[in-house]
Amino acid sequence: MNLSQNNLKQVSPGVIVPVYDRSLLKIRIVHLGFGAFHRAHQAVFADQLAAEHGSDWGYCEVNLIGGEQQIADLKQQDLLYSVCEMSGSHWHGRVVGVVRQALHGAVDGIEKVLAAMTQPDIAIVSLTVTEKGYCYLPSTASIDVSHPLIQHDIAHPRQPHSAPGVIIEALRLRREKSLMPFSVMSCDNMPNNGSVTRNVVLALAKAQDVTLATWIENNVSFPSTMVDRIVPAITPDSLEKITQVIGGIQDPVGIACEPFRQWVIEDHFVAGRPDWERAGAELVADVLPYEEMKLRMLNGSHSFLAYLGYLAGYQYIDECMQDQDYVQAARQLMLNEQATTLHVENVDLVAYAESLLERYWNTGLKHRTWQIAMDGTLKLPQRMLDSIRVHLAKGESFDFLALGVAGWMRYVSGVDDAGQAIEISDPLKEKLAQLVAQSVDGQARVNALLSLRDVFGNDLPDSSIFIQQVSAAYTLLQTHGAKKSVGLILQKVNKY
Ligand SMILES: NC(=O)c1ccc[n+]([C@@H]2O[C@H](COP(=O)([O-])OP(=O)(O)OC[C@H]3O[C@@H](n4cnc5c(N)ncnc54)[C@H](O)[C@@H]3O)[C@@H](O)[C@H]2O)c1
Repeated sequence: MNLSQNNLKQVSPGVIVPVYDRSLLKIRIVHLGFGAFHRAHQAVFADQLAAEHGSDWGYCEVNLIGGEQQIADLKQQDLLYSVCEMSGSHWHGRVVGVVRQALHGAVDGIEKVLAAMTQPDIAIVSLTVTEKGYCYLPSTASIDVSHPLIQHDIAHPRQPHSAPGVIIEALRLRREKSLMPFSVMSCDNMPNNGSVTRNVVLALAKAQDVTLATWIENNVSFPSTMVDRIVPAITPDSLEKITQVIGGIQDPVGIACEPFRQWVIEDHFVAGRPDWERAGAELVADVLPYEEMKLRMLNGSHSFLAYLGYLAGYQYIDECMQDQDYVQAARQLMLNEQATTLHVENVDLVAYAESLLERYWNTGLKHRTWQIAMDGTLKLPQRMLDSIRVHLAKGESFDFLALGVAGWMRYVSGVDDAGQAIEISDPLKEKLAQLVAQSVDGQARVNALLSLRDVFGNDLPDSSIFIQQVSAAYTLLQTHGAKKSVGLILQKVNKY
């Protein structure tokens, strides 16, 4: 038996189900990227608002690239799906009812997606399309004009393939129909995600139609957000557990996540917004300090644990947390090398670091180091390299960050410390493989990878201190392996 409106009565008691009248919801948000994270984060805020505060904000869910099956499955089950909050000891279930339409750009046709985005009620288009979906260069936060999707959308603006291209065409149609513009809200993990989205959208729009670009610039807002909730990719085991929690009902769209959730939103919406604060979100004037805090302390320590952990044979983050050296290293990385670079005010960063470690200890999560390690070329700049720039400018040491960068270099070299091949997943996978194949392991490998200016910019490869620190950490990893190297860096740092 699959989840459906009719089967809601059979869902286990204790699981929250939508008791509000779903037919009264209006589709006011189109969301691009119906992946794991959105299902467990923004949609849950909306569901809580509908259930507890009579909100009528409903969603149209869209996938543009990948995720065909999720959209098909969602349609099969009356646009319902479940979210389970998991801890080592208990799982809490909720069936989310705020989705009112689901579309896939390639399956239903981009015209249907554009038609949904040009309904008069649409006030917000939000995104969780991963860093890749923005077709941008992280080192400059600007559009990658050589990206095949961008090239396509410049040539065929009425039949867009990229997320920015779809947003532009929807806005063009709205202007043509004299409809209100919408706000574009990125919920992806990028610093200044609103500005990045704005830059990319305006740059592509300018390449298509300068008048339209000016209209977008003057009429559309791009609020930034800081989003936080650990949502591991779904596995057969977690799906099986979800089935048990919701009462023996199958839900292929179900997702499991940690209990914690946080959402800080720049309060700048041109056509209204839900009362997210009533579901615990923080609406602020400037999100950047919070984004930096989260990207450097949470995501930065996650990436550190992912590279050093994977190399040492730790499959999950909670396994890394069984190793006291890794716990100490993550704590010191957060407090001494990330927190010191931040601008956030009135936040107890020591308590924040401890709360993150507490979350990493959750044995129910099974968050794979491999998953966090993927797409490193897009993640390293905001998670580690920006902090390194601060330390270089101040003449400070950055041993753990250097070890993290060297860990990434060892990881993309493709072999773990036990000699097992690593399956690399990264948009620059071919380029990485080429650089690795053409360089001898050691200093030559470090130099080859530093030639990636899109990752390291023009400044870091020219910094002798940066090269020296990363090379030393790389040699340590090459000689001793990740586990021992983490311990050796701890000893070194604690002797200072
Ligand atoms: N999972 C987490 O714990 C977590 C936490 C905080 C933030 N996030 C953010 O959410 C994003 C999505 O993560 P997820 O866990 O949902 O991943 P996911 O793989 O489950 O979903 C990715 C989504 O992005 C879409 N997508 C991928 N490439 C695209 C492209 N080139 N163009 C358009 N759409 C594309 C897919 O269709 C899918 O809907 C992350 O990149 C991150 O920025 C995730």
